Amino acid sequence: MSIPFLLLFLFLSFSPSQTTTPPKGFLIDCGALSGTEFQGRLWLPDSDFVSTGIPKNVTTPSVLLPTLQNVRSFSRMLNSKNCYKVPVYRGAKYMVRSTYFYGGVNGPNDPFPPVFDQIIDGTLWSVVNTTSDYANDSLYNTTDFTRFGLTLVARNTFGYSGPSIRYPDDQFDRIWEPFGKNISNFTKPITGNVSVSGFWNLPPLKLFETHLGSDQLESLELRWPTPSLPTSKYYTALYFADNAGLSRIFNISVNGITYYRNLNAIPSGVVVFANQWPLSGPTTITLTPSTTSSLGPLINAAEIFEVLSLGGRTSTRDVIALEKVKDSFRNPPLDWNGDPCVPRQYSWRGITCSDGPRIRVVTLNLTSMQISGSLSPFVDNMTALTNIWLRNNSLSGHIPHLNSLRKLKTLHLEDNQFSGEIPSSLGNISSLNEVFLQNNNLTGQIPANLIGKPKLKLRTHGNKLLSPSAP
Ligand SMILES: *[C@@H]1O[C@H](CO)[C@@H](O)[C@H](O)[C@H]1NC(C)=O
Ligand SMILES: *[C@@H]1O[C@H](CO)[C@@H](O)[C@H](O)[C@H]1NC(C)=O
Ligand SMILES: *[C@@H]1O[C@H](CO)[C@@H](O)[C@H](O)[C@H]1NC(C)=O
Ligand SMILES: *[C@@H]1O[C@H](CO)[C@@H](O)[C@H](O)[C@H]1NC(C)=O
Ligand SMILES: *[C@@H]1O[C@H](CO)[C@@H](O)[C@H](O)[C@H]1NC(C)=O
Ligand SMILES: *[C@@H]1O[C@H](CO)[C@@H](O)[C@H](O)[C@H]1NC(C)=O
Ligand SMILES: *[C@@H]1O[C@H](CO)[C@@H](O)[C@H](O)[C@H]1NC(C)=O
Ligand SMILES: *[C@@H]1O[C@H](CO)[C@@H](O)[C@H](O)[C@H]1NC(C)=O
Ligand SMILES: *[C@@H]1O[C@H](CO)[C@@H](O)[C@H](O)[C@H]1NC(C)=O
Ligand SMILES: *[C@@H]1O[C@H](CO)[C@@H](O)[C@H](O)[C@H]1NC(C)=O
Ligand SMILES: *[C@@H]1O[C@H](CO)[C@@H](O)[C@H](O)[C@H]1NC(C)=O
Ligand SMILES: *[C@@H]1O[C@H](CO)[C@@H](O)[C@H](O)[C@H]1NC(C)=O
Repeated sequence: MSIPFLLLFLFLSFSPSQTTTPPKGFLIDCGALSGTEFQGRLWLPDSDFVSTGIPKNVTTPSVLLPTLQNVRSFSRMLNSKNCYKVPVYRGAKYMVRSTYFYGGVNGPNDPFPPVFDQIIDGTLWSVVNTTSDYANDSLYNTTDFTRFGLTLVARNTFGYSGPSIRYPDDQFDRIWEPFGKNISNFTKPITGNVSVSGFWNLPPLKLFETHLGSDQLESLELRWPTPSLPTSKYYTALYFADNAGLSRIFNISVNGITYYRNLNAIPSGVVVFANQWPLSGPTTITLTPSTTSSLGPLINAAEIFEVLSLGGRTSTRDVIALEKVKDSFRNPPLDWNGDPCVPRQYSWRGITCSDGPRIRVVTLNLTSMQISGSLSPFVDNMTALTNIWLRNNSLSGHIPHLNSLRKLKTLHLEDNQFSGEIPSSLGNISSLNEVFLQNNNLTGQIPANLIGKPKLKLRTHGNKLLSPSAP
């Protein structure tokens, strides 16, 4: 049984530029063996971004997009991650969109489309059920990006009935779906042109060519977004622009609560944001013209995102060191992919981590896991480690110096093939109370500073150590 997924993967830097060059970022065609040009843009094969899974062609060809003809299929291993690694700039904002199309890739004996979790760094982003074919997610702007992310619920253009507006109209390839084709009494294509400017997030100008609205002084009530919302906090952005030359001033309320007063829809455009708006169930947006307005209200476009608390990520120092430790093992545990600690239910096998905002690795325990290779000296950079248990494996090479592990309490390296001398730095770790090195291939003398410590349990038998005789 395998989990086939990840058809397309889009990773865009959200740094607005006024030019019409394609957005910076990566378009990844998962499972593709070579690059493809599609709609004028280059989709890269995914082999440089992922190291697990195998490419397959779908058996139910997709009529939708050529990039959906192939998938990367991953084996099913509970609570373990398969990761795409994409280079990013520190502090930059990104939009991530992934598209999943099952396409019957597991064959007729396994007709059930898989269901799995989608994780970005340490944050459990969403459950993907490939029965519904697609899941689109998106990051955007919010107050504090170190603590929150945004996941797209709806992005609509109003009073417009053509195909979705996206790249090249939208330089970031956000997809604006037409909404409310049926509210024809309110739909009005704009006459002439509006000259929107100054939006930090650069909505496509095409959004402002149509609107939903009325010239009569009547309220406009929209049941938007269409899906009933789970109880959470939401980020909304509503877009307005008008060129009628008469005043169009209105109040905006969401579920009866005033959200913005006396909004003046001007030709250069206005966007109204709400950052952490609590919503639940069906949502109604009401636009009420003010008594001083000459015309009724209108709306051009709107977006709504659920605000997610980010799950954090393991301390970079520990991540770099653990990657080196992984590289030094010949057969590291198969689930050692992605962030080592978070989401908590997906932490790496043998790794225990601290709670709290600064996530550190506190235990490395690979007891009896048939690991061979050596132990990287980088383990000394994992300064929060309190326990290292590698007992009963096939590790060889030298025991690295552990100068920086000030909190280490137990070191269990027994029943391996470590060779060379016992590093004298072990004697400087005052917190140590167990050092088990028996049944290795160690030589030389036991460092003097390890001997005669009343609190320390030291075992070194079964090595080739010189006297003083092993305790
Ligand atoms: C998928 O099909 C294409 C075209 O027929 C072929 O070139 C490619 O090798 C196939 N990919 C895999 C993973 O079988
Ligand atoms: C996935 O979606 C299908 C169809 O909507 C549904 O029947 C199934 O229960 C879902 N699976 C899970 C695990 O949510
Ligand atoms: C995801 O995007 C596809 C293609 O653009 C669209 O058809 C689908 O409705 C979207 N799904 C969601 C959940 O937004
Ligand atoms: C979003 O980010 C831009 C650029 O950093 C900033 O100018 C703008 O005020 C932000 N908007 C909100 C609503 O946070
Ligand atoms: C809404 O539009 C759809 C398709 O355009 C049509 O089938 C349906 O009857 C319309 N509903 C109403 C209430 O007008
Ligand atoms: C649209 O206008 C028609 C006739 O002018 C009216 O019968 C209908 O109720 C209106 N629909 C809405 C949604 O206001
Ligand atoms: C918008 O109007 C201005 C002035 O009327 C005109 O110069 C410009 O070309 C128009 N732009 C579009 C896209 O029609
Ligand atoms: C709009 O809001 C203002 C300020 O709360 C209020 O005084 C006014 O009555 C409102 N207008 C309408 C039409 O609800
Ligand atoms: C390490 O793992 C072994 C075997 O699972 C277990 O017996 C031992 O208590 C663990 N040690 C620590 C410090 O967690
Ligand atoms: C050592 O590891 C092997 C392989 O995992 C296991 O079969 C064996 O029982 C372990 N021995 C001890 C003493 O734990
Ligand atoms: C530990 O981290 C430092 C930087 O924090 C780095 O220079 C060093 O090479 C790392 N590795 C070891 C084995 O100390
Ligand atoms: C132990 O070390 C000796 C030489 O020091 C070497 O010949 C032997 O192969 C080593 N044994 C193991 C199991 O690593």
